[in-house]
Amino acid sequence: MDLKANDANANAAHFDMRVDDIFARIAGRYDLLCDLFSLGLHRLWKRRVANLIAVAPWESMLDAAAGTGAIALRLAKLHPERCRSGSIVVSDISLPMLAIAEQRTAALGVPFAFRRLDAHEMPEIADASVDLYSISLALKICDRHRVFAEALRVLRPGGTFIALEASSIGSARMQQLYLIYMRLCMPLIGWIATRGDASAYLYLLRGIEAFPDAANLAEEMRGMGFENVTFERMTLGIVAIHMARKPG
Ligand SMILES: C[S@@+](CC[C@H](N)C(=O)[O-])C[C@H]1O[C@@H](n2cnc3c(N)ncnc32)[C@H](O)[C@@H]1O
Repeated sequence: MDLKANDANANAAHFDMRVDDIFARIAGRYDLLCDLFSLGLHRLWKRRVANLIAVAPWESMLDAAAGTGAIALRLAKLHPERCRSGSIVVSDISLPMLAIAEQRTAALGVPFAFRRLDAHEMPEIADASVDLYSISLALKICDRHRVFAEALRVLRPGGTFIALEASSIGSARMQQLYLIYMRLCMPLIGWIATRGDASAYLYLLRGIEAFPDAANLAEEMRGMGFENVTFERMTLGIVAIHMARKPG
């Protein structure tokens, strides 16, 4: 498979913040929404990502679409010395989300650099300047092929890519039940938690339904040019963490 950026179908949720700046509206409630939507499981998934980052070789890392700083927060709490031994850019396109990330991590003594960056195109970041690139729960709301291409540009040869994203439960029957649960419960929970703002859970649902399963995503990543692509499913496959290497 030889894939290119700009595939019209590569934005699973059909999200575009220029059309609907949902994260600016829900920034203050985003962490509560994560707890409600995932029944708290996102904490486990993000802790795993932080642990994988901590043992990977890097001096400079960039967390893209970092939101309220969930990964940075866990890295700083679980691996403070590892954080202080390198430079970490915490980035997002939404300034209100980034402001919360800054507040949440302020007291932890890790010198994160907070930057407003669009994961599709980050001209502020030089080619081959990043040892490790991470992105969590955002591939499904971006054009993932453009994100992969940009990650490959900024990563140095041999650099590490780590992505946490919604995936599919291995058993088709269980996946169907999970989707039914999401379709029935999410609107109610989302409506209450966002005080009537339907966008948050509509994007989530659309993204989950249209996002490729872990094996297909791995195949796409190989098609985009990554090598050593591996993945681990978590919580029956509700999410998966993909790891890969930029060739060279
Ligand atoms: C579902 S949240 C995930 C936040 C965080 N990574 C986490 O795991 O909790 C998605 C984030 O992606 C950001 N985002 C959406 N489109 C983006 C883009 N093109 N570039 C950078 N960030 C983007 C949103 O502002 C939001 O903060």
